[in-house]
Amino acid sequence: MTGQTPSPDSAGQARQSIWRNWYSLAGAIIASGSLFAFLFLFTLDMTGSGKSNPYMGILCYVVAPFFLACGLALVIGGAVRRRHELAILRGLGAPQPLAIDLSRERDRRILGVFGGLTMVYLLLTAVGSYQTYEYTESDTFCGMVCHTVMGPELTAYHRFAHARVACVDCHVGEGAASYINAKINGVRQLYAITFNTFSRPIPAPIHNLRPARETCEHCHWPEKHTGNLERTLNRYLADDANTPYSVRLLLKVGGSGSEHGRPGGIHWHTSRDTKVEYYATDDKRQTIPWVRVTDKSGAVTVYRKKGYKDNPDPRLVRQMDCIDCHNRPAHRYNSPDDAMDEAIYLGRVDRALPAVKRTAVDLLAQPYATRAEGEARISDGLRKKYAGAKGVDGAVAEVLDIYRNNFFPEMKVDWSKYPENIGHLDSPGCFRCHDGDHKSESGGPVPATACDSCHVILAQGSGADLAKLAPNGVAFKHPSTDIDGLGLSCSDCHNGKNQEN
Ligand code: HEC
Ligand code: HEC
Ligand code: HEC
Ligand code: HEC
Ligand code: HEC
Ligand code: HEC
Repeated sequence: MTGQTPSPDSAGQARQSIWRNWYSLAGAIIASGSLFAFLFLFTLDMTGSGKSNPYMGILCYVVAPFFLACGLALVIGGAVRRRHELAILRGLGAPQPLAIDLSRERDRRILGVFGGLTMVYLLLTAVGSYQTYEYTESDTFCGMVCHTVMGPELTAYHRFAHARVACVDCHVGEGAASYINAKINGVRQLYAITFNTFSRPIPAPIHNLRPARETCEHCHWPEKHTGNLERTLNRYLADDANTPYSVRLLLKVGGSGSEHGRPGGIHWHTSRDTKVEYYATDDKRQTIPWVRVTDKSGAVTVYRKKGYKDNPDPRLVRQMDCIDCHNRPAHRYNSPDDAMDEAIYLGRVDRALPAVKRTAVDLLAQPYATRAEGEARISDGLRKKYAGAKGVDGAVAEVLDIYRNNFFPEMKVDWSKYPENIGHLDSPGCFRCHDGDHKSESGGPVPATACDSCHVILAQGSGADLAKLAPNGVAFKHPSTDIDGLGLSCSDCHNGKNQEN
């Protein structure tokens, strides 16, 4: 300002405050603006008026605090810079180190105010960062913020048993390390979304998914396994009458104690006493030529598929856990076949409409470029075939609903992209190892290849046949086509669509 040489302590002069500079002023405006925004959004959030909007949380707990912090940094940065400038103007060279003298009234006052404000700020940050943490761990954040990208997973998630289990309970796991890991991953994903470089569909399996020990087993621990389960798979043939053909199975899931039956059965693979490891040649883990079992005593058995003589790269060997069978616990996309069987069974599509199963499955299984095209073609197809028939409106509405919940052309997501490993009908599943073709060095196959080793068929067919229960099980009677002796696996013909007869 002027050329005079003021003494730093002369209280008489108008003090040239270090806070009076453009940077600090701008910072103060930004900080107070975002503080106000934060408080406003926070009130909305607390009173519940903004709950339904996923962006609300992001604005309140991520964007506003970010600008608040930037504003405060600018205020302080500006002041430091100004202090430096003033000292030079006063001809003192570099500023003297800041000295706080508690015997001075003014210093005590400044310190008091500063301390008080810091406390308030820390308190707000504590609330804020907890909310930020909570928010970035919530399902809204995971699923809706990236709504096109994760839309399919979110839609599917709401329809299954885990709809009340947070995304992060399976995807992130516990502890600060996994939180930070996930957020770093998140930044990469945000980049991919912003620059539109993500893959469609999102690839599964996820290679860095937490081991099931740290996720699934928090809620379902192997010592508490289920025991036998009875399942009726209600199915319909693709004929004109939509003939029911159901299979009632008793699945030998196995328990691990007196409550749920003797240890063993299907859940044997994840018991604490044994280790099953495998090597898959493809990314989807569908072709498994090599399996190694280490039992309680440490004895090792290796099974190789016919024709595979090598030893896999140890880095590609994976220890089997829950997810190797339950790979779609939260996001299952129904195949056209499964979806129509369910809809007919529940009476949502009228079984009296001739060949409605075959027709709808065919329409659903076509590739469509966009959601809108798919909806239009499905609706037209059904209306043309069943013009004037009773129940057509209901059928159209239901099939469209199936389409919206299970098919996502924009993300190229449908059942065929994510083969399910439970069972063996539409994809190899259990038969990846239990196909009788995997032999140990001594020549024995992987056990449990007979049809009744994993389940017994209590009844099958429809009507009176289905009512006849056979406690020891019956042999499977395949409808219409004779499959015995063909040497084919179920998934060689079945793939979720109509088979070419
Ligand atoms: C019960 C556990 C569980 C919950 C809850 C869960 N997921 Fe998953 N999710 C999985 C598993 C397991 C896979 C991996 C499938 C695989 O490896 O084949 C997966 C895969 C995914 C994939 C990869 C693409 C795909 O479809 O396989 C995305 C994206 C995803 N989940 C998002 C979410 C979102 C968003 C939520 C919350 C709305 C969520 N998940 C909740 C278990 C879960
Ligand atoms: C936060 C707890 C929690 C976690 C973590 C969790 N589950 Fe579940 N799971 C549940 C609950 C609750 C149910 C519903 C039980 C019911 O319907 O009676 C359930 C149901 C199931 C079912 C039967 C329902 C169905 O889908 O047919 C399976 C199978 C299952 N979970 C597997 C898994 C797997 C695999 C994982 C890990 C990827 C996992 N769960 C992680 C709580 C959890
Ligand atoms: C070898 C494949 C396999 C492995 C590994 C496996 N499961 Fe299962 N699990 C099954 C099958 C098959 C069923 C039968 C029910 C079905 O068809 O969904 C089942 C049933 C269940 C059920 C009961 C479902 C119900 O409807 O009541 C739960 C819960 C479950 N598994 C959790 C787990 C957990 C947790 C793990 C890991 C510790 C695990 N499973 C490992 C194949 C497996
Ligand atoms: C990665 C290979 C692999 C997959 C996939 C697999 N299993 Fe197994 N399973 C094995 C091996 C290996 C054994 C036992 C080998 C031994 O005892 O030496 C076994 C044993 C079993 C047993 C006999 C357990 C007992 O009581 O001794 C049952 C039942 C079984 N599996 C069911 C299933 C079902 C159902 C599925 C599909 C949901 C499945 N397995 C998927 C490798 C696999
Ligand atoms: C390694 C274990 C295992 C073996 C061996 C096995 N199954 Fe299965 N099977 C399963 C499981 C698991 C399911 C799925 C149950 C479910 O979807 O909940 C299943 C489902 C089925 C279904 C119902 C299919 C549907 O979705 O409508 C039939 C039918 C069936 N099996 C027949 C057979 C026949 C026939 C054989 C012998 C060639 C056989 N299974 C061998 C494990 C096995
Ligand atoms: C040679 C091809 C072929 C093989 C192999 C095959 N299926 Fe089928 N399957 C068919 C045909 C064709 C139908 C009749 C389609 C229809 O009318 O819906 C059918 C119908 C069924 C049905 C009646 C419900 C439905 O979805 O149509 C079941 C259940 C079934 N098969 C189970 C199995 C099982 C389990 C295996 C393996 C053990 C198997 N199939 C192997 C061709 C085959």
